[in-house]
Parts: sequence; C-alpha cells; structure tokens
Amino acid sequence: MKTLNFPRITTHVLQEMKLKGEKIAMLTAYDFSMAKIIDDSGIDIILVGDSAANVMAGHKTTLPITLNEMIYHASSVMRAVERALVVVDLPFGTYQGNSREALNSAIRIMKESNANAVKLEGGREIKDSVDRILSAGIPVMGHLGLTPQSINKFGTYVVRAREEEEAQRLKEDAKLLEEIGCFALVLEKIPAALAKEVTENIKIPTIGIGAGSGVDGQVLVIHDMLGINHDFSPRFLRRYHDLYVEMKGAVELYIKDVKSLDFPNEREQY
Ligand code: KIV
Repeated sequence: MKTLNFPRITTHVLQEMKLKGEKIAMLTAYDFSMAKIIDDSGIDIILVGDSAANVMAGHKTTLPITLNEMIYHASSVMRAVERALVVVDLPFGTYQGNSREALNSAIRIMKESNANAVKLEGGREIKDSVDRILSAGIPVMGHLGLTPQSINKFGTYVVRAREEEEAQRLKEDAKLLEEIGCFALVLEKIPAALAKEVTENIKIPTIGIGAGSGVDGQVLVIHDMLGINHDFSPRFLRRYHDLYVEMKGAVELYIKDVKSLDFPNEREQY
C-alpha cells in the first residue's frame, strides 16, 4: 500500500506522517533491480546502508566498506527510484572526528549519487560533523542505540541502553540531534519502552529496528526480511519469505535441466 496522497517522499512528508500518526516503512537496497522492486511496492524510505559490507560483500562488520563503494551502491539505487526518499550511510572513517572531512564525504555522496540524504551513527561525539553537513543544506538522519560502526567498542551486538546511564545519554543525544536539525532518527536494538519515550519526546520521526512498536516507523535489511540470508536470526527479525530456499531450488533445477539436455528446448532456441 502506498502512502496516500504523497507522489514523492520528502523529509517534509515524513514529518507530516509523524504528525498524522501514519507509520513510515523503510528497507535497505544496494542495487538497481532490488531498489526498483522496493520502490514500485510503495516503500517510504530506501536506505543504502553500510550493511552492504555484510550482505553484498560478505564482510563480518560494516567497517571495511569505502566511500567509493557506498557511492557505487547509492548511484545504482538512484537510477531505479522514482518515489522513495533515498538515504545513504556515511561509512566508517569518513566523518568521525573531522567535520570538514564529514562535509566532503557527504557532498561526494550527494553529488556523485544524486541521493536525498545521509545517515551518520552517533550522538554528541559527532555533533560538529552533523552541524557542518546540515549547514550545507544536506538532510541528515541520525542513528542511536546499537551503532554497528562502533562494534569494536561495544564488543557485542546485544541490546543497548538497558542501564539507566546509557538510556539517559541516548535520550539527551536524541534531543540534541533533533535540536541541531536532523530530519529523523534510527533507533537500533534498544528497549521498546525507551524507544517509545524518545519518540514521544521529540518532534522528528523515529525509525526502529529491534526497538518495538512505539516508534514512528520500522526498518529492516532487505536480505534479512526476504530470507536470502539464513545466518542472521535476531528476535526482532520477521522473515516475509524464504528466498534462500526458493533461489537454491531454482538454481538446482536449472543445473539438472542443463545436464539432462532438457534446457534449452526447441522453443528456447533460434
Ligand atoms: O546499514 C544498515 O542497514 C542500517 C540499518 C540496519 C538501520 O544502518
């Protein structure tokens, strides 16, 4: 179902959706063909996530993906999308600790891929980078809670902000990112009650992943929700298909048909 009356999703449309209580649906995409299917289905936001490092390139973490690789994925997605808002992750090492480098990275993404916005992981520690990118007129989505680019600091992918001190810091960071001008926030793998409290206390939309139902929208990695990837089964994931099994079955059938001379048949040749 497409969001009613919105032919093209903008950051203003997302704000209106929050005000009206209409939930926001977001999925990742990394290539032209998948982005076309997802956009034609009526998704509100497509995230060209640095999860491409995992599901497209087979890395164990999101850290190795480069800015050039993100631009390649983002421009492939942009060639397909007509309606969704496209947000692109700034990869690890291209914005932390140096706001000038952050701005240059964001400008490269916007110029070379034609995307609509960027996403950065973190709160107060990246404030200067977010400020500088926003001052260039580039919309920024924040990302708090489990921030996979910090996996070497966390040491594990378990739920974040269960303890009061970390929860308090997250609430303050959410307020800060709202105040400096982010248009939305991803809240990843935090207690549902905390995500709901944050959502009720800020005016910009929150998009949850493993953050319960009290947020303004949901995001999943497309390979996970389609069941292409069997290696990742967190509790928050709902699988809408088992494409691993379906695709493997199709490939096995093709191999059998080739080997048995069943393919190609009379009608499949010139
Ligand atoms: O890279 C990604 O796919 C993400 C989502 C999980 C929010 O950041």
